Amino acid sequence: MSTYIKDLQWRYATKKFDTSKKVSEEDLATLLEAVQLSASSYGLQPYHVFIITDTELRKKLQPVSWGQTQIVDSTYLVVLANKTEVDAEWIEAYLKNISETRSIPLDSLNEYREMMHGNLLNLSTEEKSKWSAKQTYIALGNLLSAAATLKIDTTPMEGFDATAYNEILGLTDKGLNACVVTAIGYRSEDDASQHYAKVRQPTKELITQI
Ligand SMILES: Cc1cc2nc3c(=O)[nH]c(=O)nc-3n(C[C@H](O)[C@H](O)[C@H](O)COP(=O)(O)O)c2cc1C
Repeated sequence: MSTYIKDLQWRYATKKFDTSKKVSEEDLATLLEAVQLSASSYGLQPYHVFIITDTELRKKLQPVSWGQTQIVDSTYLVVLANKTEVDAEWIEAYLKNISETRSIPLDSLNEYREMMHGNLLNLSTEEKSKWSAKQTYIALGNLLSAAATLKIDTTPMEGFDATAYNEILGLTDKGLNACVVTAIGYRSEDDASQHYAKVRQPTKELITQI
């Protein structure tokens, strides 16, 4: 069996973290690089990532996160926020980045600009937000898998009040929305759920080869 699959079997949504064990800054940087390298539609990366270590802030977030202990007990709390508005300015900044990174003229990207404008700018605000949230989940998936390869534990979380997060973190004014959260740390020996067998749909029900 591949090491990668073994790592995915090892990981689980951690319910209880060991507060005495801390994930190093170096490992955190690797996980964030996995986020940064995530694929996204057109490459636009329509999200922003917040790493929260501030204890007081995390105490404020816990009650609006179903009281989940991972919010305060993990080494890092990561809030992945999707962009609520995708506008011409954002697209232009991206095109400029491509032009500079690849040393190609901005003009050579005119068709790409038109395609992105045509497909994205006419979407309603709700549709844009849905689209950007989908991209954000790809980044989440990469973060979880990268953490597993480093034997670092995570809890992906949707069990929180996004409106309250937006208010506490001042996200709305930044054109952002708290999309999904993950806690990062090391599992507690007392977390019984680490021993539970993985429950997944049988391959035949999940996958069809045509
Ligand atoms: C987007 C998302 C949101 C989730 N929200 C929570 C959550 O708020 N709290 C929690 O304890 N687990 C949460 N989970 C964990 C799932 O329940 C868990 O991944 C699933 O039961 C499969 O188990 P495993 O990840 O341990 O293999 C979430 C998972 C995902 C992917």
